[in-house]
Amino acid sequence: TILILDFGSQYSHLITRRCRELSVYAELMPCTQKIKDLTWKPKGIILSGSPYSVYDDGAPHVDPSIFDLGVPVLGICYGLQEIAWNLGGEVAKCDHREYGFAQVEVIKTSNPLVDLLFKGIETDMQVWMSHGDQLSQIPTDFYVIGKTTTAPYAAIAHKTRPFWGIQFHPEVTHSLRGKEVISRFVLDITNCRANWTMETFIGKEIARIRDICGEKGQVIGAVSGGVDSSVAAKLMHEAIGDRFHAVLVDNGVLRENEAAQVKEMLSKDLGVNLTVIDASDLFLSRLADVEDPEKKRKIIGNTFIEVFEREAAKIEADAEKDLEERGGEAKGKIEWLLQGTLYPDVIESISFKGPSATIKTHHNVGGLLANMQLKLIEPLRELFKDEVRALGRLLSIPARLVNRHPFPGPGLAIRILGPVTRSQVKIAQKADTIYIDEIRKAGLYDQISQAFAVLLPVKAVGVMGDKRTYEQVIVLRAVQTEDFMTADWFAFPPEVLRKISSRITNEVEGVNRVTYDISSKPPGTVEWL
Ligand code: XMP
Repeated sequence: TILILDFGSQYSHLITRRCRELSVYAELMPCTQKIKDLTWKPKGIILSGSPYSVYDDGAPHVDPSIFDLGVPVLGICYGLQEIAWNLGGEVAKCDHREYGFAQVEVIKTSNPLVDLLFKGIETDMQVWMSHGDQLSQIPTDFYVIGKTTTAPYAAIAHKTRPFWGIQFHPEVTHSLRGKEVISRFVLDITNCRANWTMETFIGKEIARIRDICGEKGQVIGAVSGGVDSSVAAKLMHEAIGDRFHAVLVDNGVLRENEAAQVKEMLSKDLGVNLTVIDASDLFLSRLADVEDPEKKRKIIGNTFIEVFEREAAKIEADAEKDLEERGGEAKGKIEWLLQGTLYPDVIESISFKGPSATIKTHHNVGGLLANMQLKLIEPLRELFKDEVRALGRLLSIPARLVNRHPFPGPGLAIRILGPVTRSQVKIAQKADTIYIDEIRKAGLYDQISQAFAVLLPVKAVGVMGDKRTYEQVIVLRAVQTEDFMTADWFAFPPEVLRKISSRITNEVEGVNRVTYDISSKPPGTVEWL
């Protein structure tokens, strides 16, 4: 395992990703982690970048005992400065801050271990820089192994101990040979084994689930039809069979026919029995007249908890009744709540900076745990989204489900601007179905990270069959993104947009105009609410 110590850089999670892509397990921890408190010994340590300056009061510093562990250490950007600061070098503000591309000239030392980091890179490499400080004096016993026109110590290495520091960011794709550099460190220098694969994960995770759930406890989990909850449900089912209960709450703001389709997909393709609870009347009655997006989210979140709790009580009562009537083994109480939490959420909560400021309150089921005294089970908490998808494929979950775009918990309620009524939901559903259908037909679905239709609460004038119309407007949104933190709009071929627009205005009653959203994130967000 590689230990990545996070000093709050926006790229820290990418370092973890890159190691995982090399099939090496890597864990991110805050830079304040004390080495003596670790329950495992890392084979290598990577220090991340940071928005701080090492010489600032209150700047984060690493537990100096990492340098006595005898394991290789790689410092990236602030990480390099942190190594130098600890070992006698000097760091200062640079005259020329470097943001963006730079050319690093690689300097060989003739010491094979030292040169291993840049092995195979003979001259220059194009890298991505993002720093205002740099090394002004190299610590003693270090070589310079790379420089740029403005940074004389852009890469350094200890002469005898396994410490390397690089000013650039190898974890971002703009550093063209960054992956190679990380691979040299992780595979060649630390000698980590490349054995982190989803094949081995499945067996280990199923055993872990069986172990924690014991012989009796039952588990309940909400399924949404998205890839995370489906993969989590399939794993639970493999592990404990019908002691796992999958529940889908139809909140009235799902996609068209979604509940029925998810039920069929889960039972046919995954062998998981799903209980669908149609609570659409309750949700829609509470949403009537509500315009504020955060209020919509709260209402949906709270109502979900209420409906879900009622269902859990029913499952327990049914199990007891069944036991009385037919005897046999008691299944036990519902003790666990399954949640499809992914690693990026875990990182967010353990990051050195702490949870980032809430821009939107995303759906969470925290309330369920407190009210029902459930314990949380999160089989995907170590995984990134693409690992979940790989896992889904290994579990024979159909590609159509595995590659589905994410769909927000509050559903169409945050895609219908203004009040959410049954008639508005219908319009939004119909437009969404046509849009996604045409994207699939054009073979573009997998190139887009998320696509959906937004229904505006305003009316515009149009003309249909010689008649003046005064109807609503649909906005099409499609984005490409790596992590949904930033996103760019997708450049559709015009003929695809033409077809979508023509179908929506012809087939969806109440809409006479279709527009395409060409805002990136930032300044926009992916959703409109
Ligand atoms: P934004 O709009 O914040 O969206 O750029 C980023 C990603 O988050 C999803 N999203 C949500 N997901 N509950 C969810 O489960 C929510 O309240 C919510 N709001 C946004 C959005 O669909 C996109 O994938």
